[in-house]
Amino acid sequence: MASNICAVALAAGLGTRMKSKLPKALREICYTPMVGHVGMNLSQAGIADVCYVLGYGADQAQEYIESAFASPSFAYQKELLGTAHALMAAQEFLSARDGKVLVCCGDAPFLFEDEIRRFADLSEGYDAAVLTARADNPFGFGRIIRNGSDLRIVEENDATESEKKVTEINTGAYIFDIKKLLGIFPFFTNDNKKGEYYLTQALSLFQERQYSAVAIEAASPLAQKAANTLAELADCEAAMRLVINSRHMANGVAFQHPTIATVSREAEIGAGTVIYGDSQIYGPSVIGEENEIRGSRINSCTIGHANTIENSVLEHSTVGSQCTIGPFAHLRPGASLKDSVRVGNYVEIKNSAIDSGSKLSHFAYIGDSEVGENVNIGCF
Ligand code: UD1
Ligand code: MG
Repeated sequence: MASNICAVALAAGLGTRMKSKLPKALREICYTPMVGHVGMNLSQAGIADVCYVLGYGADQAQEYIESAFASPSFAYQKELLGTAHALMAAQEFLSARDGKVLVCCGDAPFLFEDEIRRFADLSEGYDAAVLTARADNPFGFGRIIRNGSDLRIVEENDATESEKKVTEINTGAYIFDIKKLLGIFPFFTNDNKKGEYYLTQALSLFQERQYSAVAIEAASPLAQKAANTLAELADCEAAMRLVINSRHMANGVAFQHPTIATVSREAEIGAGTVIYGDSQIYGPSVIGEENEIRGSRINSCTIGHANTIENSVLEHSTVGSQCTIGPFAHLRPGASLKDSVRVGNYVEIKNSAIDSGSKLSHFAYIGDSEVGENVNIGCF
């Protein structure tokens, strides 16, 4: 893949079809905002120079992106007049660069590292490239219309009955030669049913100028997944869960219900750990080997080896090895357990250090405390 490739992620959309106030880019899939998945994919593909186009809820989205990624750039689309209009908001960013730009959508979290690299490699030598996929149900997507060497994209609303039958669809990812892209900016029009400036028109504008354009079919059918509605978001959640859990299973982590237990992309889990039921593990959690985690929620914790954690909630806490936690225990932020600690039924610990071998077996609250070794709190 060429080294001088930058990216623009279009994430200004309101998400009208989700019918809620949260900006679409911040809707979570497996505990990571959609735009966070997009940023992670780009960074894993080695693309560090990324401009996020923000609009609706820009402040909230920018705050998240700045917390998640090193030196992002931002462009702002004040009025949401379509995907080409969104890309034009990044004119200043693009004008300061040359080479190629990957343009992708903030609502498409499944454009993974391998797919990005393959797309970039196969598009080398072309002025414009669009990533396509074969959809079982192409409804709502832009259709790829190939006529000899002529390549066009037609949106659902503007498609004829025969065009609607085309199953090759636009995933919303493109690679353009930056200088040529900047040259077509003044020529986008909005004479379509929605009255928006569509980025899909770029392919026609390139070909009218005898610039080369190519449609490249994605290697993975997942590349087409996008979340425009809450039903699609739920579908993406289920698909992402399986992608993440399959990676862990390949590394020796067992799941009783891999389609139900949810692990975020940044969590690390050691081999031999078994995850039961609907456990949720998220945030930058690091979990060691040979643990047994049953129906628990673990957020941003560091956990050692061979612990048993049952029906409990652990947040921003540290656990050593060979501890038994739960059922129904709550480790609140700042709880820190050393090895072989027992935390039993209805015990809440906040901002406290519990040294090795101590037992808090029943009904207790420990706050802002230090408990020494082998202390027994409550009955024994
Ligand atoms: C778009 C494509 C469609 C493709 C599909 C793939 C166009 C016209 N259509 O449709 O061909 O099959 O993606 O999922 O491009 N956005 C802005 N500003 C805007 C409008 C949109 O930043 O004014 C952003 C959105 O936040 C989103 C992305 O652009 O991340 C795509 O917009 P969306 O409204 O989801 O387009 P689709 O209808 O899905
Ligand atoms: Mg979309």
